[in-house]
Amino acid sequence: MRPVQVKNLSSAEAFLAHLNGLGAKMPFSAAVDPLGALAQPKVITDAGAGHLVVPNRFAILPMEGWDAASDGAPTDLVRRRWQRFGDSGAGLVWAEATAVVPAGRANPNQLVLNEQTAEGFAELRSLFASTQIVGLQLTHSGRYARPLGQAEPHTAYVHPHLDDAVGASERHVLSDNQLDELVASFVHAAVLASQAGFHFVDVKACHGYLGHELLSAYDRPGRYGGDLAGRTLFLRSVIAGIRDAAPQLAIGLRLSLFDTVPYVAGDDGIGQPRVQGPYRFAFGASPSGLEIDLDETHQVIEMVSRLGLGLLSATAGSPYYCPHVQRPAFFPPSDGYKPPEDPLVGVARQLGATAAVAHRHPGVAVVGAGYSYLQEWLPHVGQAVVEGGDASFVGLGRMALSYPNLPADILGGRPLERRLICRTFSDCTTAPRSGLISGCFPIDQFYKQHPQRVELAAAKKHMRRGA
Ligand SMILES: Cc1cc2nc3c(=O)[nH]c(=O)nc-3n(C[C@H](O)[C@H](O)[C@H](O)COP(=O)(O)O)c2cc1C
Repeated sequence: MRPVQVKNLSSAEAFLAHLNGLGAKMPFSAAVDPLGALAQPKVITDAGAGHLVVPNRFAILPMEGWDAASDGAPTDLVRRRWQRFGDSGAGLVWAEATAVVPAGRANPNQLVLNEQTAEGFAELRSLFASTQIVGLQLTHSGRYARPLGQAEPHTAYVHPHLDDAVGASERHVLSDNQLDELVASFVHAAVLASQAGFHFVDVKACHGYLGHELLSAYDRPGRYGGDLAGRTLFLRSVIAGIRDAAPQLAIGLRLSLFDTVPYVAGDDGIGQPRVQGPYRFAFGASPSGLEIDLDETHQVIEMVSRLGLGLLSATAGSPYYCPHVQRPAFFPPSDGYKPPEDPLVGVARQLGATAAVAHRHPGVAVVGAGYSYLQEWLPHVGQAVVEGGDASFVGLGRMALSYPNLPADILGGRPLERRLICRTFSDCTTAPRSGLISGCFPIDQFYKQHPQRVELAAAKKHMRRGA
């Protein structure tokens, strides 16, 4: 079935009938109550920080902008984005991926937190409302490190299907000693984040980056691979180190709940699995790599909650090798493929896995993702999700770039501004893949008028010709 654009599903009946036709299930509230479930505070309990009270159920998801200074310090573009999130009305802000060492940047303009840049982070932190709970995502990009623009991978293991895309081989596999050093780098950055005033840091374990890849290091010899204890040693060591060095800081986890085989464009441009048959590299998936299996996912969440974590940001897959799973979109990014399914199926898949986790681990506050594709129906689904306990927070990714005030409008009982609704054009992904800054070029007036808009249009044209 050809995907139908959500903006054309102009009544609740049409939306629900379309979902039904797809066999995709998600909760739905017929009417959105500005004083209802989305407006309720939520207490997060963390062994270090104690209780953190989030004033409502909207969370801004981490989204890097490829626009920091070359030393990793925040720029005006970063400050503008964070200010908009500060003014958004969302109770929780989960701020963007920040590299713990320069070599771990995913691009030359990713934020880096160290002594030289720390002051800029304290200034960023000051852009938020006093009631907002604000965290910073700490990362090492691992396989997808591009600190100077070209791939400089640091991998967890040799990967037969992903190494070629980044030119990785045996010599790029990090040693146990190098991983020990990176544990220390994460802990050091967490201390700086705490000093800058962040409520929590997140140890990033998603999207194919280092912390995520280690979770599927089944065949890696040594301390950081093999059984689940080995594959989670890095995560657990970072958490233990932060608890020691910054005891008051809360810790969150952003986890790809499930993964899948890599996808590539087929002859018709539509995404198809690159691998048929057994696939041993997908955390949270069956041995075929095609079905979700949350058994180890639950075990990891259980493990981190025993370490006193009370906050989980759910996501899935990777934007590099299965973007339709990670950020369902009608228009794929330029280096992607046409969606192999109606993107609503991808939304339902993420919401379903998130609900399974939220119900199994009621002591953990779970932030959901993948809502942007719901467009006009986002508040209706979000309210029903929170009411049913299928997640504690409705996370906003791309929608927060085009329409950061959506939480304030919903909680204020105002109608949505349709012209600001993200239609998933994927320019926020295509631009950085072309070496440009990320932002909402189709909708946000600032980026619409930005000189890089012209470069983006040229890059897209060039890529279309090459395709
Ligand atoms: C431009 C862009 C940058 C992103 N950067 C990050 C990031 O720094 N860390 C992260 O965990 N996820 C990142 N994501 C993923 C989002 O947090 C989110 O999971 C995804 O966009 C799906 O949510 P949505 O449907 O609301 O967009 C990024 C997404 C986009 C579009």
